[in-house]
Amino acid sequence: MVLTIVVIDYKRMCEEALQLTDGLELAPFKPHNIVFAGMGGSGISGDLVKDIATDVGVPIGVSKDYTLPPYADSETLFVCTSYSGNTEETLTQFVEAYKRGCRIVAITSGGKLLEWSQRLNIPVVKLPTGYLPRDSLPYLFFSVTGCMEKMGIGNYDGTREFMELLPTIDLQPVNNIADSVKGSPILTFYGPSKFSGVLKRVKSQINENAKMIARAEELPELNHNEVVAYEVHGYPELPVIFLQDRDEGREMTERVRFTRKTVGGNTYDIWTHGSSILAKVMSLVYQGDHLSFKLAEIRGINREQIKTIDGIKNELERLNTVATLEKELESMNLSS
Ligand code: F6R
Repeated sequence: MVLTIVVIDYKRMCEEALQLTDGLELAPFKPHNIVFAGMGGSGISGDLVKDIATDVGVPIGVSKDYTLPPYADSETLFVCTSYSGNTEETLTQFVEAYKRGCRIVAITSGGKLLEWSQRLNIPVVKLPTGYLPRDSLPYLFFSVTGCMEKMGIGNYDGTREFMELLPTIDLQPVNNIADSVKGSPILTFYGPSKFSGVLKRVKSQINENAKMIARAEELPELNHNEVVAYEVHGYPELPVIFLQDRDEGREMTERVRFTRKTVGGNTYDIWTHGSSILAKVMSLVYQGDHLSFKLAEIRGINREQIKTIDGIKNELERLNTVATLEKELESMNLSS
């Protein structure tokens, strides 16, 4: 049952996602910089768009805290993502971005983010309700790219390629990896820094869906520190999964070969599909998501439950951060 969701629903969700921005009016904008704000399963859409938006020509920041980066101002495109619309870190940045006059676009299924955006006449993409935030990634990701395309920021031609190749991706190799690593206390992912967002996504999906400790490190940086940890006795019991690009340059290919030798066995590979950066990134995300679903299934884990995240959110509610923000908006005479 769980696997049906990732195999069949992914394509349907991507197709629906491409329509979500259809009716939205967004004037062209040439920002000096872009800030993606959001936490967890919502915020990761910013990391992934940063991976693929190699042609936007301006710096991109991904902000995952209460504070908006100091450089954000009226020349900034601020893309605010929260599936629930009630995540306090994201809402705090939203209010600050409004005060600084950033050009804001909100992406949410409801909550305060929807309410406040509508009240302030801020363009908002309304996502379908009823999903777990991390499951809604296709909606979040393609809403962000859809908005940016409408504003004339970047090129997302790879979308078509990804949609065509998605049903052809063979998930059996990923099932085999899941079977081999299911008993490990910790999973390590290595990949090139151009897939920085994918590395974060796969790590978080293993954490949240399979309830396993996972870590992710980037090449070439890990060749300047982490590799040394293998010098003394190695960690043959700990699997390492490489995210690999079929069109990798010579240097990176050599680094992967060297790193694999250093790790000394128990390594696996998940490969990109397609030729565009968007197809490569999203094909890795798809396979990484599947790995987390499969591991949850094999390990008999309730993948939907995230008691600890809910627990922390409930504890923090006592501080009334969102209510304070709401009062601040009201005192700025911004209510209706
Ligand atoms: C839950 C999940 C979490 C949430 C995060 C932020 O499925 O993935 O990581 O995404 O707690 O909440 P939202 O996405 O509602 O802003």
